[in-house]
Amino acid sequence: MKSVGLIGWRGMVGSVLMQRMSEARDFDVIRPVFFSTSQYGQAAPEFGSQPAGVLQDAFDIDALMALDIIITCQGGDYTTEIYPKLRAAGWQGYWIDAASTLRMNDDALIILDPVNHQVIRQGLDKGIKTFAGGNCTVSLMLMSLGGLFASNLVEWASVATYQAASGGGARHMRELLSQMGMLHNHVAKELQNPASAILDIERKVTEMSRSGVLPTDNFGVPLAGSLIPWIDKQLENGQSREEWKGQAETNKILQPSTLIPVDGLCVRVGALRCHSQAFTLKLKKDVPLREIEQMLADHNEWVNVVPNDRELTMRELTPAAVTGTLKTPVGRLRKLNMGPDYLSAFTVGDQLLWGAAEPLRRMLRLLVD
Ligand code: HSE
Repeated sequence: MKSVGLIGWRGMVGSVLMQRMSEARDFDVIRPVFFSTSQYGQAAPEFGSQPAGVLQDAFDIDALMALDIIITCQGGDYTTEIYPKLRAAGWQGYWIDAASTLRMNDDALIILDPVNHQVIRQGLDKGIKTFAGGNCTVSLMLMSLGGLFASNLVEWASVATYQAASGGGARHMRELLSQMGMLHNHVAKELQNPASAILDIERKVTEMSRSGVLPTDNFGVPLAGSLIPWIDKQLENGQSREEWKGQAETNKILQPSTLIPVDGLCVRVGALRCHSQAFTLKLKKDVPLREIEQMLADHNEWVNVVPNDRELTMRELTPAAVTGTLKTPVGRLRKLNMGPDYLSAFTVGDQLLWGAAEPLRRMLRLLVD
């Protein structure tokens, strides 16, 4: 059995990964070694049937050198510090990383095996040993729209995202919920009285939102009852870094013969852990909608096409419906007024599952099965 080091397993993405690895019985086929950046020497968690032993020091290069595979959800700073040291010391193992640090390196691949299984297989044959999970919006787009990309039908894609708080991290989710609670408490009495004037309630909420009393250490501004049309750093070309990733990572994952332009606006909204995305797709040719739906539905076992019907869309194509599942539904499919080769689509996916943890454990299975 391969020795697999698990780093950052206690954090939010790491916890989801541990849950999925338990459900999928991944611990039955590996020898897990749990690491910690702060609590080494303490008892390791027991996820599988094997004795867990004690937590190892995540900064101990010798201990890491002994591993066949490392999976880290510890974050970019850890990767930046440890990965070069390990490789410089001659470590030949497989590094599987949730962070973005290594994604665009020439000797690394972005993993999303239902979409780029062949790229991954070819990479393994060529001796690639470094694998990074993709940006969550990119992975979720490709899980939902994979059928169109696989059929080489997408000339370009324009996207508007509706990204959940969890994409920022655990503290961001807490902050959003605290803001929501404070705003509600502020007007709870008036809400109980059906005769109270809604604009008075709104004014109280808006005043509180602008007063500076809401916690905003993580988002910088209130998100509850609002939205933030900027995610990640500002780049010189006017894009946010999140927007830049759309094209860069899509093309790195798919490795098409000619670059597929992807661009748009990334927006943080008050959802908890599901990212939604609205697409305008320019197709290379006019394909009947029925064929498009079939291509999308046939692409992988997690996507499903939600018919462009009001009731079904409201029931099935929302963060509330999808959160906590591996489903990556796509709907609102229709040809746009711009012409028969312009398609709209709306996708929803859990950014902690297919957007973060799931591709990592599936890469592990490709290595050990
Ligand atoms: N960058 C993403 C977000 C999450 O902020 O929503 C990680 O892919």
